Amino acid sequence: MEDKIQKLQEKLAEARLGGGQKRIDKQHENKKLTARERVMYLLDKDSFEELGILVTHRTTDFGMADQQFYGDGVVTGYGTIHGRLVYVFAQDFTVFGGSLSETHAEKICKVMDLAVKAGAPIIGLNDSGGARIQEGVRSLGGYADIFYRNVRASGVIPQLSAVMGPCAGGAVYSPAMTDFITMVEQTSYMFVTGPNVVKTVTNETVSAEELGGAQTHAAKSGVAHRTAPNDAACLLDLRTLLTYIPQNNRELPPSLPYELGEEYREALQEIIPANPNQPYDMKEVISGIIDTDSFFEIHEQFADNIITGFARLGGRSIGVIANQPLALAGVLDADSSRKAARFTRFCDSFNIPLLVLVDVPGFLPGTDQEWNGIIVHGAKLLYALSEATVPRITLITRKAYGGAYDVMNSKHIGADLNYAWPVAEIAVMGAKGASEIIFRKEINAAANPTEKLAEKEAEYADTFANPYRAARRGFIDEVILPRETRRKLIRGFASLEKKEVEQPRRKHGNIPL
Ligand code: HXC
Repeated sequence: MEDKIQKLQEKLAEARLGGGQKRIDKQHENKKLTARERVMYLLDKDSFEELGILVTHRTTDFGMADQQFYGDGVVTGYGTIHGRLVYVFAQDFTVFGGSLSETHAEKICKVMDLAVKAGAPIIGLNDSGGARIQEGVRSLGGYADIFYRNVRASGVIPQLSAVMGPCAGGAVYSPAMTDFITMVEQTSYMFVTGPNVVKTVTNETVSAEELGGAQTHAAKSGVAHRTAPNDAACLLDLRTLLTYIPQNNRELPPSLPYELGEEYREALQEIIPANPNQPYDMKEVISGIIDTDSFFEIHEQFADNIITGFARLGGRSIGVIANQPLALAGVLDADSSRKAARFTRFCDSFNIPLLVLVDVPGFLPGTDQEWNGIIVHGAKLLYALSEATVPRITLITRKAYGGAYDVMNSKHIGADLNYAWPVAEIAVMGAKGASEIIFRKEINAAANPTEKLAEKEAEYADTFANPYRAARRGFIDEVILPRETRRKLIRGFASLEKKEVEQPRRKHGNIPL
């Protein structure tokens, strides 16, 4: 027995060294943690249970039979984060550059299947040279097995990806189909084809960082939801993200104990400027409403004319979508519509109530937007919100103009409670534009057309630039004081906690992709 125990211990010690000390040192020199270190940072202390540590590849081509490393380039298993079960796989760059072999893929598939059966999130830590070149199509098949599972698990369990090294070629499509991607700055990149291929095909000269680094994907493409300055910060970020979301689609997100008190927030009374054309920071409104310091922003650097993120309100997790008047006056465009639609669908899949804060002058005009399909992208947000069955509350802080009024969680598309502040302006368009159209003849015929326009503008603004027409119709349930907003929203969401919606029978809808 002792011999056998000794033998096992030797094997495990060898396995824990991955590709060996030299390659571990190189990983550290490159400012990256090893796969095992990452798992330790990610999970609660001593909670990790590894599965498949002794798996080896089955390839014999190209002298591979003699090159065997226990674990085959990926560390897999389960553990806890803040005491809640999660499944994890971490690619080990020290073994064949973390490249994906048939057996490596089988290990990932195994934990994905277990995560679905157990109803727990799956977290992938990606650091890989892509398909194991020595294995050819078996590796491609392995990728496809993972992709298929990503889709099967979508909307069933949360899937989180951290990109912590190379992630290129078709390999990018697994993270892309997960719910959230966090990238580590300077040490990670994602692209379908690398700089060399780009140079050959399009003659562009571009660095890996510029083509597909964390900054590029966070700000330009929107592929990355968040970035982190280093591995440890990235893993901590994933831990925090999980505190807002449930284990699976049958559970509610965790909530903190909370007793409702007076809850008035005077600072909210002061945020909206007297001049309706002057911007203000919607993030001040958000932090004025939510539990202190509870905002966790998603896509902070991408399409910043709309804000998306998780927060807690009275201890409960909510998703916040808010126009940002500081950027492009908070207008809806193609990117901001896509961003908010994707966020809506995540929240709706995982029972996270939605708070929509509205200050929107309309959709962004122009050829750039039209040719980039603002129609179909705007429709995504309209569709996603209309489809969402989670509790949905809207607050119009200032402007709600045109089609954007409808899209931004209006009563008409199924919002449960719709509030407006007294300064809200709800109309087809701004007073100037509207007056120029409907009073054109009168203005042109006037002795002083400028004066007439100003007079008509004031008349139109007086009639429509307020929340009362909408309130009279019941499109707005209540016009509320800014200071009492938090209290109204906490009560509102509490009243909707047991909301149920009958769904029409269908296979699935056809969201305009
Ligand atoms: C097998 C690989 C490998 C791979 C790296 N290695 N990529 N082994 N298959 N795909 C091995 C190297 O031989 C080396 O082994 C070790 O990993 C570390 O690699 P280095 O090149 O020394 O590291 P570095 O300089 O940091 O460069 C990392 C890299 C580079 C940029 C990822 O290795 C690289 O370009 N690899 C090939 C990438 C690629 O073309 N992959 C296939 C893409 S197609 P030793 O023994 O020296 O430590 C694809 C399709 C997926 O992935 C399709 C899905 C549908």
